[in-house]
Amino acid sequence: FNTANKEKYRPAFHHTPLYGWMNDPNGMFYNNGKWHLYYQYNPYGSKWQNLSWGHSVSSDLVNWEHYPTAIEPDGLGYIFSGSCAIDKDNTAGLGKDAVIALYTSASTSQMQSLASSTDNGTTFKTYPGNPVITLESEARDPKVFWNEKNKEWNLVLAHALEHEMLFFTSKDMKTWELQSSFGKGIGAQGGVWECPDLFELPIAGTDEKKWVLLCNINPDGPFGGSGTQYFIGDFDGKTFKADTDKDGNIPTKWLDYGKDHYATVSWNNAPDNRRTVIGWMSNWQYAAEVPTKQYRSANTLPREMGLFRDTDGQTYASCSPSPELNKLRDKNIQKVKKSAIGKKKRTFALPSANDGICEIVLEIDARKSKEIVMTLSNNDNNKVLMKYNPKARTFSFDRRESGIVDFSESFPAVTTTPTYENNGNITLRIFIDRSSIEVFGNSGHFVMTNLVFPNKPYSTFSIMSDGGNARLSNLNIYSLKVK
Ligand code: FRU
Repeated sequence: FNTANKEKYRPAFHHTPLYGWMNDPNGMFYNNGKWHLYYQYNPYGSKWQNLSWGHSVSSDLVNWEHYPTAIEPDGLGYIFSGSCAIDKDNTAGLGKDAVIALYTSASTSQMQSLASSTDNGTTFKTYPGNPVITLESEARDPKVFWNEKNKEWNLVLAHALEHEMLFFTSKDMKTWELQSSFGKGIGAQGGVWECPDLFELPIAGTDEKKWVLLCNINPDGPFGGSGTQYFIGDFDGKTFKADTDKDGNIPTKWLDYGKDHYATVSWNNAPDNRRTVIGWMSNWQYAAEVPTKQYRSANTLPREMGLFRDTDGQTYASCSPSPELNKLRDKNIQKVKKSAIGKKKRTFALPSANDGICEIVLEIDARKSKEIVMTLSNNDNNKVLMKYNPKARTFSFDRRESGIVDFSESFPAVTTTPTYENNGNITLRIFIDRSSIEVFGNSGHFVMTNLVFPNKPYSTFSIMSDGGNARLSNLNIYSLKVK
């Protein structure tokens, strides 16, 4: 399959469906050098309908091969979000090394169903005993994983309208036992809880490990609409217990402080202990109105998750661009070392190849600056303003004049993230891909993902210090090679 369709805003190095509508990434697993990615898919049009599992496969997380639709709606309803695990020991009796998908069958009710594949996830057979989990009220998006310690399967399910996550165990993936719940009255509660994930990670620079519970929520995200909150804590295979802050409260934390990052979940069985995640790069507020035609929605760049401890004693999640992305770098068109930044704007050209797709890498010593102002602009009066305030420890992104913004009143926005570090030094990696900008700051300690629809590609990047002086320690702007 070749992407003959070169729509203006179609990203060059992000995953998109060839045609039709896409929302959540689903059922991701890694096997034999291949990253499998399924997704909520309407193959027949670019609005949410006919939900099936689309399927794409990659060996480098950047170039995706499109496979036939893997699971299609059946008598139990649409195929909503879920997950896949490889059944190495044939616990389900559906084949050794079978790929087992657990997903939500959605019609007037929502139940959890199972399907299995013996051709490495290309085609699936639905299990005749479906559904495998039924509850009284709406529950969806099962995340399954093997618990090596307890030698059984764990499953986390979003009890959407109850704003809680449910934890199940099973020996065979067909019979599930409810063990506990987490979430009542905790964290952001203003939207439905969806698309959970749960995994353990080491805390950088320590010998400790902690569990991360991802809890996507819509609406009530940090800037309206959808967003990904998470909790850090302990999990014994049955119960999740969240860490508290010094006042005994469970803080609400967000994985990405942009407007266009949702339904993030991780790959099962990723190699080298990696915890690789990907999210849907849109927002339920306007996903169906964005100015693309043949397809709607891309996924975010793949990210590697980690944990770090900030000066407040709290543990936070970090998200760094997956290492595979480094291979995209082509020519370094702006190499700058150690130069002063003051009130006067320093302006740098962006690459013109491939409609300006690029990666900007920079480091600024802003200890003596009040605010660093960075601008992306074109000669059509479209601009994105990014500001770093070292004292307030914030980074913000203003897309109100970024290009086409009037298709939804929720689109024009300024998003702000904490930067965590307090030493006034900031490092940024900014990925621009036609209609998206992802900013990774301070080794992934903060991330911000925002869509933009400029009339023409941004052609310049400028920096100035608004009050006081700063030092640009490094600036590199790479054009990118894409197939
Ligand atoms: C999240 C979500 C899921 C559901 C899917 C349906 O974006 O609402 O909870 O499974 O989308 O497409």
